[in-house]
Amino acid sequence: MTRISLLRRTIDRLTRSAAESPRSTAQWLLAAALGIPPLSLYTEPDRVLPPDCLHRVETWTDRCAEGEPLAYVLGYVDFADQRFRVTPSTLIPRPETELLLEVATGLVEILPPGPILDVGTGCGTLAVSLARRAPGRAVYGSDIDPSALAVAEANTQGLPNLTLYRADLLKPIPEAAFALIIANLPYLPTSALPQLPKNVQREPRKALDGGPDGLLLIRSLITQAAGRCCALALEVGDHQADRVRELLEQAGFPRSRSLQDLSGMDRIVIGESDG
Ligand SMILES: C[S@@+](CC[C@H](N)C(=O)[O-])C[C@H]1O[C@@H](n2cnc3c(N)ncnc32)[C@H](O)[C@@H]1O
Repeated sequence: MTRISLLRRTIDRLTRSAAESPRSTAQWLLAAALGIPPLSLYTEPDRVLPPDCLHRVETWTDRCAEGEPLAYVLGYVDFADQRFRVTPSTLIPRPETELLLEVATGLVEILPPGPILDVGTGCGTLAVSLARRAPGRAVYGSDIDPSALAVAEANTQGLPNLTLYRADLLKPIPEAAFALIIANLPYLPTSALPQLPKNVQREPRKALDGGPDGLLLIRSLITQAAGRCCALALEVGDHQADRVRELLEQAGFPRSRSLQDLSGMDRIVIGESDG
């Protein structure tokens, strides 16, 4: 079978099973099985596939057709120009979270010296990216879930300035103070979880469930972080930014602002302390 005929067959199979984004999923599966970038598939469309590649694509296609997210099938995802290992123990990093990384990178350049903490690091994308971008800063990543931390550990690539902790928000994080704390904590209201697409429901509940109003963990983190950092930058859910800014201002971050994502939704909220 040729590359192009398997690509068409895979798109057709995924479309019939109502899988997410059949064309791009099929391209990723075929390209990954061949070890080439997706666009290279079209340079030699009539090249015959080796039998092991055909078998791999068919197995992976079955898993995607059953609703397993592509990133779990491949075992990795690309985030901020780097490849990260992911497993069903970790949330699949979303492109909009790159905005939090860019905001954090900008803040790190202007904040006083001091360490950075990424709370709820999951597979470690934000902590690892920041540790690479700010080699002169100590960076910490924390998560409550040891299985997520094991994946983050595999993604640290031996970075000397990065340390991972198991912790429930800031407890017990020994460092007294940070220049910057960032977090993309679960922010979906519990009642929204049953309506999520079936592939999203395969992601860990601990990474999605933000309690009755979605702000359970964000509210606690703001309280715990007050007095322990110069700035706190948070990714928030749709229509949560104004409430989160109020919480920040009440907790002791007198200056706050929000930044919009590409869809025009306030997605990142930053609180700055006077200290
Ligand atoms: C939405 S995911 C974000 C993962 C990653 N930071 C990212 O942006 O892709 C939230 C993460 O918070 C972690 N988490 C949930 N409750 C927590 C808590 N009480 N303390 C620390 N981490 C927590 C989850 O295990 C999950 O890895």
